[in-house]
Amino acid sequence: MAEELRIAAGNKAERYATLLPQVASLLEGETDRIAGMANMAAALAQTFGWFWVGFYRVIGDQLVLGPFQGSIACTRIAFGKGVCGTAWKRAETVIVPDVDAFPGHIACNSASRSEIVVPVKEAGKIIAVLDIDSDQLGTFDEMDQHCLEQMVALLTAHKAI
Ligand code: SME
Repeated sequence: MAEELRIAAGNKAERYATLLPQVASLLEGETDRIAGMANMAAALAQTFGWFWVGFYRVIGDQLVLGPFQGSIACTRIAFGKGVCGTAWKRAETVIVPDVDAFPGHIACNSASRSEIVVPVKEAGKIIAVLDIDSDQLGTFDEMDQHCLEQMVALLTAHKAI
C-alpha cells in the first residue's frame, strides 16, 4: 500500500484520474466493506476537500450512518427519505445542484449547498450509498457521477467473507 495519497494539482478530471488507481490498489484484496468505505471516504475528502464525504449502509429498512469524513451527521434515514433515501429507492445516482430546491432534503449541516448520492451495489442489491456534500452550489455533474460510480464498484469487487 502507498504510504501517502498523491493528489493531482489540476482540474477535477485529473484529480479523479490520479485518485482512481490509488483507491483500486488501496482496496485490492480487501473483503471488509467497512474498511474499504473508510479509506475511500478519506481519500475522496483529502483529494477534493468536500466538507462531508461518507457512507450510509442499508440495514433492514433504513440507511444507517457508516464511515465518513466531516462533521456529525444524522444516523438513520428511511427508505425514500432525503437525497440518500431517494437514491436508494430509485436505485440510481442523484445529483442535487441546490439542496434548498430538493423537496425533503435532510439538512444534517446548514453549510451544505449541493450534494451527490451514489448507490453501492453488490450482486444486484444496494448495500449502501455514498453521500457527498459541498458548501458550494452546483458542485457535482456527470463527471462526478461517472467517476464515483466507477469508484464505489471497487468496494464490492472482492467477495465478502
Ligand atoms: N442530506 C442528506 C442527509 C445526510 S447528510 O447530508 C450527511 C439527505 O438528504 O439524505
